[in-house]
Amino acid sequence: MSPPLSKFGQSVGGSTVVGMRRQADALEAKGMRVVDFGIGEPDFEAPPPVREAAIKAVRDGKGNYIDPRGLVELREAIAEFEAGQHGLAISPDQIVVTPGSYGGLTLITRALLDPGNDVLVIEPCWGPYKAMVKLTGANPVGVPMGTRQGRFVIDGARLEAAVTAKTRAIVVNTPWNPTGRVLLAEELAAVAKVAERHDLWIVADEVYSELVYANATHVSAATLCADIAARTVIATSLSKSFAMTGWRLGYCIAPPELAELLARLNQYASRCATSIVQYAAVAAFRDSASYVAEMRHEYELRRNAIADGLNRIVGVECPLPEGTFYAFPQIPKAWGDSKNVADDLLKKAGVLLTPGSSYGPTSRHHLRLSFATSLETIENGIARLQEALPPRG
Ligand SMILES: Cc1ncc(COP(=O)(O)O)c(C=O)c1O
Repeated sequence: MSPPLSKFGQSVGGSTVVGMRRQADALEAKGMRVVDFGIGEPDFEAPPPVREAAIKAVRDGKGNYIDPRGLVELREAIAEFEAGQHGLAISPDQIVVTPGSYGGLTLITRALLDPGNDVLVIEPCWGPYKAMVKLTGANPVGVPMGTRQGRFVIDGARLEAAVTAKTRAIVVNTPWNPTGRVLLAEELAAVAKVAERHDLWIVADEVYSELVYANATHVSAATLCADIAARTVIATSLSKSFAMTGWRLGYCIAPPELAELLARLNQYASRCATSIVQYAAVAAFRDSASYVAEMRHEYELRRNAIADGLNRIVGVECPLPEGTFYAFPQIPKAWGDSKNVADDLLKKAGVLLTPGSSYGPTSRHHLRLSFATSLETIENGIARLQEALPPRG
């Protein structure tokens, strides 16, 4: 018999997205063709300048350890990009380069939390936040969003009511996975008010910041005012915006003292993000704007197609996603828990999607469909859903 395992380690469960994908693999092995709306991963390649820069870095022998804060040239490029795109006035010393935003969020939870602390996680939420909080011995506390005209919206009063003496931080995600929302400045201000009143950190996950569509604008919590910037730490990455998931490159933006601690912790977590990728990433920020614009345009067409198709199914209500690449329709309560609906749709219609219940009880009657897939796949998947679930009119 082996010795015991850690309690913190064992407190986390597996991912629903991964579990559903494995079920789909088993069905495909038996000959079923599955339409995949499951995983949140761009179907594009990284921009050509990034790929060229990576090859050059390999040829130039750039395979050495880098300072745990990240390559200076990359942090300068990020600071310029964030100022230009989102109005963030930051110095390169406030940036810590990490292996994806998973890497950044892991450092942030370690830097901010002690065992027994509480963290408010606004639901529906991306599952790993709760797991990462638990891995530090702190407790994630789910706080439901409100709803307005079929959309999830921040409810400041619920946040306020959830704060206790143990609360240390609020996690906010904009653009928001799984809801497809892009938070308004007034919604962020409601979060900020609670954080200010109770002296809390705001952990802002902004990985979808470049995937924002017509009439919506990404607002970073750190741009609200100086006091809010001093209590906000951003985790973000190149995964979604630049179609670079497997390259594993992200970064944190933090007030100076926290940035220093994050870099110190990075030294013991990964030492540094891959050097070759850090050199390549400079080209993402400096030379890839047109490729990002092209991807965004394509996602917008897909978003329109998927929302339109879903809204033609009786009982399904899909608000137009404002950002990300997720549609998050509501289904009738009479259909039961979304986990059963998703299991059924996979087995009977060969459509892989993610049940809303995996993002918290608030979205038990929602489904998440990733539209990071071709228009043809969207049409095929919607046709299958319309067949499995009766069309309107
Ligand atoms: C909201 C959100 N944050 C963070 C991540 C992690 O991405 P990465 O570590 O590739 O930056 C994801 C990926 O699905 C996500 O949806």
